[in-house]
Amino acid sequence: MQERISPAAAVSGTITLPGDKSISHRYAMLAAIAEGPSRIHNYSTGADCQSTLCAVEALGARVERNVDSVVIHGQGLEGLRRPASMLDAGNSGSTIRMLSGILAAQPFTSQIGGDESLAHRPMDRIITPLRAMGASIQGRDGRFPPLTIEGRRLKPIEYELPVASAQVKTCILFAGLYADGETVVHEPVTTRDHTEIALREFGADIDVRPRRIAVRGRARLKGQELRVPGDLSSAAFFLAAALLAPGSSLAIAGVGLNPTRGALLDFLASMGAPVRTPEIFQVSGELAGNIVIRYNKLRGGVLEGAMTAALIDEIPVLAILGAVSENGLTVRDAAELRVKETDRIATIAENLRRMSVDIEVRPDGFHVPGKQRFRAATLDSFGDHRIAMAFSIAALAADGECVIEGAEAARVSFPEFYSTLRHITSS
Ligand code: S3P
Repeated sequence: MQERISPAAAVSGTITLPGDKSISHRYAMLAAIAEGPSRIHNYSTGADCQSTLCAVEALGARVERNVDSVVIHGQGLEGLRRPASMLDAGNSGSTIRMLSGILAAQPFTSQIGGDESLAHRPMDRIITPLRAMGASIQGRDGRFPPLTIEGRRLKPIEYELPVASAQVKTCILFAGLYADGETVVHEPVTTRDHTEIALREFGADIDVRPRRIAVRGRARLKGQELRVPGDLSSAAFFLAAALLAPGSSLAIAGVGLNPTRGALLDFLASMGAPVRTPEIFQVSGELAGNIVIRYNKLRGGVLEGAMTAALIDEIPVLAILGAVSENGLTVRDAAELRVKETDRIATIAENLRRMSVDIEVRPDGFHVPGKQRFRAATLDSFGDHRIAMAFSIAALAADGECVIEGAEAARVSFPEFYSTLRHITSS
């Protein structure tokens, strides 16, 4: 599917966004192994989170999809059943990596795979710790989906994550729910802590210290009524739009502002963006609030170390802001970008170059010089939702109409992206 995007003079108005993708996955998986029903409001509408719902359904947890909520009938820790066929994670790294932690402890064998992109994403990062816990798990060529997981009685481990990954942390903690004793994960930098918050909401026995998370196995989880805040990573595209189109003034209501994700707003502010959060409140243990932003010229910035890990999903759209900023954007320590839905360093560079924007690519990052102009071009999502959305935003600042090929990729996290964009743009 193609989308044609015209240059925009401004974005304005007030919008709300579908539920956070990361939180939705965790709620669905924990609800499936909790006791009794859980009602989840504002569950993500993205295809990835629908893959998780279908997977828990295939494992025996009944799912009711209502207009305003999803109800998942939890089966308890021991109540899942062997799926009739291979579980389909679609495009979703979160689904396969996190759910594998639960599958590793089941008294049956299961298989889980996904689409062409997922088939090339590394799974050794979960295979190694799950094997250390006693699971039997095989991947294609040793490390790629599909995975065949023979569930076992698991033993607790103390594990140091070699890469900063909230998906891997979650996989191990979910497996730890089934182990006899305390499972401990150490992380090199703090990654998003939605799992820790969700585990507490569901009544797990969890101990959280800086970069050390411990969960005690065999605790009974209880079904909950939960609300998912709007997805800050989806909000990032519209915040960027407001910073590209002079005259913009935008409000986004009810967005997740978990401090492990909120670094986005700090970074935008450090670049010179007038971004404010006039109201902050709690929803199901998570911080959320309203964000207001208006256009301003940006200075540019450097992303490295822990900041890179915290903003990993936002880097495609930040690259675009870098090009129009005064001093450009430098990104370091971002080798993980190469193993996302696409090699995002390569796909960002390809699309920027199609728009005649310079970028200097490095193995673990890039530098986009500032004060550049976007030329109208035909761009490609390469099947990656964040690349589709980031370059649709770049198109707003181009010198003519742009075409986005493969725009349907946006559905993976944000099916309403193009309708929302049309609603707030004026030419
Ligand atoms: C996610 C963690 C990040 C992120 C992904 C969602 C999560 O992946 O890129 O979109 O929900 O835990 P990694 O854990 O691979 O860094």
